Amino acid sequence: MNNCKAVKIAENIYWVGAVDWSLRNFHGYKTHRGTTYNAYLILDEKITLIDTVKDTFKDELISRISSVINPAKIEIIVSSHVEPDHSSSLPATAEIAPAAEIITSSPNGLKGLTGRYGKLNYKPVKAGDSISIGKRTLQFVPTPMLHWPDSMVTYCPEEKILFSNDAFGEHLATSMRFDDENDLKIILDEAKKYYANILMPFGKQAQNALKTLGGLEIEMIATGHGVIWRKNIPAILDAYKEWSSGEVKERAVVVFDTMWHSTEIIARTIAESFAKRGIPAAYYDVKTTPLADIATDIFQSKYLAVGSPTIHNGIMPTIAEFLCYIKGLQPVNHKAFAFGSYGWGGQSIGMVEDELKAAGFDICLEKIRIAHVPTKEQLDEITEKILSAEF
Ligand code: FEO
Repeated sequence: MNNCKAVKIAENIYWVGAVDWSLRNFHGYKTHRGTTYNAYLILDEKITLIDTVKDTFKDELISRISSVINPAKIEIIVSSHVEPDHSSSLPATAEIAPAAEIITSSPNGLKGLTGRYGKLNYKPVKAGDSISIGKRTLQFVPTPMLHWPDSMVTYCPEEKILFSNDAFGEHLATSMRFDDENDLKIILDEAKKYYANILMPFGKQAQNALKTLGGLEIEMIATGHGVIWRKNIPAILDAYKEWSSGEVKERAVVVFDTMWHSTEIIARTIAESFAKRGIPAAYYDVKTTPLADIATDIFQSKYLAVGSPTIHNGIMPTIAEFLCYIKGLQPVNHKAFAFGSYGWGGQSIGMVEDELKAAGFDICLEKIRIAHVPTKEQLDEITEKILSAEF
């Protein structure tokens, strides 16, 4: 029996979501600090629920709502986003509150929810649409491809609250709901990781959304994941402006796998050579660091070096997975090169370079191919190349 309580965030507005402390994998994104699925209840003439939670937590959602009102009284459910971490408790909620209208974006929210949950009591809305729920108004602002076609945020002008769903959030489980009750550095680090791994391909859409939202007076951003912003709103808005700009910094990331340490030795020499040039460099063995963490570091680092030995005439599967992941994130303004050791064929290094080009990287240094074990002279030559390269 759940006995979860709603958390008041404003007069007659409550957080009724769930904290997923144990989550360590969000469809491949390693979430070292868990997450939250945030849902909000507004007690007005029409009782309104903004979003639901992942269905494994639906009893917590219903329990929190029940701590302030009978859930059967809900008349409006706003579904900001079809992805199941926010929508998969809709059927259970609609069963308890069968008369509730489910507001979703048109046409993509409607298509997505119908495809997932069949026919429910949907009310599609478009840009500029708003509804009155009594003393309050809810204005709907589509944010397509931020990060799904259906994504939408909701603004309540009377409260100056933006219900932002995935935007401005982070995967972070906390016991306290507000930004100023938690460590801001951790929040911003996790928000950056979230942006890098979920929103990196959608920088233009993020900038468009920031322009649209820029005209609103916002005193609270009630996100779909992590903390609710009330004190540090400029910090997260400024961070989104910077992250969506595609700006990169003079920093290098070296990513590799190795069979018998030769590619590892080359990787270390590359990282140290960047440092010698005055460019800080990070060094990641893909076997030991989750892809989401590596991608977060690559996000604003101008240079990337990727190394793979040759195995079965190709790339190490771990590096192939990494390249597939990074290609999907469509990084912009980055430069890269390939390296690796080999016993005989040595095909992997050219294949890595091709994949880097296909992912949109500018190749900034001729690929480094070394048979068997690198000699001191070969390693010195690598250092010289990096020191003298016109990046
Ligand atoms: Fe938090 Fe796109 O779902």
